[in-house]
Amino acid sequence: VDIDRNYIDVALFTLKQIVGRTFPNPPVVSIVVESNKNLTDHKIVSFGLTSFSGRPHAEANAIGLINYKRNKLYTLYSTLEPCSHKGRSESCVSKIINSGFIHRVIFCTLDPDKRVNGKGKKRLIDNNVNVEYGIMRNQASKIYEGYFLNRKEKRPKVILKLALSIDGFISSKKNVRSKITNKMANQYSQILRSEVDGILVGSNTVKVDDCILNCRSPGLKKYSPIRVILNRNLDLNPNLKVFKNCVEQRTVIFTQTQDKKKYRRFLSRNVEIKCIEPKKYNLRNILKNLSSIGICNLLVEGGAKIFSSFVKENLFDEIFLFRGNFFIGDNGLNAINDGKDYLLSKKKFSIREIMRFGDDSLEILDSKNKNRHSRKKNVFRNN
Ligand SMILES: NC(=O)c1ccc[n+]([C@@H]2O[C@H](COP(=O)([O-])OP(=O)(O)OC[C@H]3O[C@@H](n4cnc5c(N)ncnc54)[C@H](OP(=O)(O)O)[C@@H]3O)[C@@H](O)[C@H]2O)c1
Repeated sequence: VDIDRNYIDVALFTLKQIVGRTFPNPPVVSIVVESNKNLTDHKIVSFGLTSFSGRPHAEANAIGLINYKRNKLYTLYSTLEPCSHKGRSESCVSKIINSGFIHRVIFCTLDPDKRVNGKGKKRLIDNNVNVEYGIMRNQASKIYEGYFLNRKEKRPKVILKLALSIDGFISSKKNVRSKITNKMANQYSQILRSEVDGILVGSNTVKVDDCILNCRSPGLKKYSPIRVILNRNLDLNPNLKVFKNCVEQRTVIFTQTQDKKKYRRFLSRNVEIKCIEPKKYNLRNILKNLSSIGICNLLVEGGAKIFSSFVKENLFDEIFLFRGNFFIGDNGLNAINDGKDYLLSKKKFSIREIMRFGDDSLEILDSKNKNRHSRKKNVFRNN
């Protein structure tokens, strides 16, 4: 029905605003609409979003706000199939059934999490709730891309974020930090960080840039993603800025070493250490590991060796390419060590969107290999 589509449209619009802000649970928007028995007169009576930190869920938040009237019909619209498994609290399906007044449930897409995956829908139908799903499924699936990849392919969606000079360099020379983009573009980067669950960098970027990797813009700090650093020998200096507030912002180092003396220097700063044995220490296994801790969307912020590895192994879904408005000239550091021409190759990706930030710009590129993992489903599972 048209009205169903309209309310789902509102829910999806709102969903985009909370992506990356409900870790470790997927973001969901639920709307409860009250109508007369013929469905000719209707209005929104409740809006529920997945809470910050994942609980309570959107459906529970929406149902909790309703003043139920006997002569009315109630439809719950949701962006994802309501969960049917009992966690720390009652499942959303139980909440819907036990409320006793939700007559219809309309949602965009089934939840691929194996604890749900159609079971939520079935329990609702078995309890005489009218269920419809699939409305605006494509739009919803796009927003849930990272979540679906996490549940189906055991890896997060990977977004490479680079800042390039006009002549295509990421810094003026090796082991130097260069300011490439303007204030407006930097603020947009902060928003981008707040929309992902994890941010990954190589050990040398941490060393050279002494970066903090959080969201500093007003109101966004609490949405700072989990920091992930790759450092085989665990030889970074624990006094670097990134290790200063790890209680506030979860920070994980991947390493090969089992040297407990080295561990202690980081554990005392609340840094998590994830050791992978040398034979299995590779990006695929690191991504698999990140997926297992709940990371659905991962922003990869460099530097050159990291970008090169992700690109060479085709382990990315999107590139956010910021372009600053100045030349670096000779000695500049290429983003991809095979040469900057890679980033001009249309064979590897297509341009989805271009945005302007004053004299700077942002190109959003989709990998043309995007569906390769769906075709080779076991790529990640076999590791
Ligand atoms: N403009 C930009 O967008 C931007 C963004 C970030 C950084 N940068 C610049 O980039 C430069 C740093 O780049 P870089 O190439 O020297 O270093 P990097 O990529 O930051 O770090 C390299 C390290 O990351 C780890 N690593 C890389 N590939 C890996 C893989 N496939 N598997 C596991 N670990 C891997 C290794 O650490 P271990 O050897 O410790 O294991 C490697 O030594 C700096 O100048 C920085 O300012 C620019």
